[in-house]
Amino acid sequence: QAAMANDNALWEKSTLNKVISAGELRVCFEAGYMPFEMKNKKGEYVGFDIDMAKTMAKSMGVKFTPVNTAWDGIIPALLTDKCDILMSGMTVTAERNLKVNFADPYIVVGQSILLKPELAGQIKSYKDLNDPKYTVVTKLGTTGDIATKKLIGQANIRLFETESEGALEVINGKADAFVYDLPFNAIYSAQNKDKLVHVAEPFTYEPLGWAIRKGDPDFLNFLNNFLRQVKGDGTYDRFYQKWFES
Ligand code: ARG
Repeated sequence: QAAMANDNALWEKSTLNKVISAGELRVCFEAGYMPFEMKNKKGEYVGFDIDMAKTMAKSMGVKFTPVNTAWDGIIPALLTDKCDILMSGMTVTAERNLKVNFADPYIVVGQSILLKPELAGQIKSYKDLNDPKYTVVTKLGTTGDIATKKLIGQANIRLFETESEGALEVINGKADAFVYDLPFNAIYSAQNKDKLVHVAEPFTYEPLGWAIRKGDPDFLNFLNNFLRQVKGDGTYDRFYQKWFES
């Protein structure tokens, strides 16, 4: 009896229950992280995470509400109920996991390097950049920031608020290298041929996961089963091909 009352109380508090009552799934992400979330020319949000978020909302029978949020405030936004879930290419790290819960990872990425073309051949790995004569840029508060400080700490490190500002520093000759998640770097370098060289060997291990508030087993259970379903029924592969292989 007591156990059943407890289950009911948990469900009453569950974000999933609130989402169903509200009729909307509010998803926080920070646009600009290709190919996961971007703004297209029409001003619409598009990308792998966006397609997944729309599919998720549909599976709950609610509408998808995008909440574009600056990266440095994205966990606070979740914790203060500005959204129901973070679907923003967030790497599962132990430090973040102390504040939020993560569903099972939906993809694994790693850091890679965009180099000034003059340095191609000279810099073969992140280890070659670990020297005060090099200026390395990355995005503030990301795993790029963490990895650069930890593994390339001898370099002159500069942090930027957005990934595109950071990468632009290398194009403009103001920095030697940009360190960031490989999928972003792959697309960015393809869009800026001859201006940058991609050292496309990932040097960190980074599972990405959707983050929710702690203490919500009902929502977590829904998310993990949703992920298993889309992975098995071809939906995930379709989105993957659309955003990563075309
Ligand atoms: N995976 C990296 C991290 O967790 C970068 C994610 C940035 N995501 C974004 N939507 N801007 O730190």
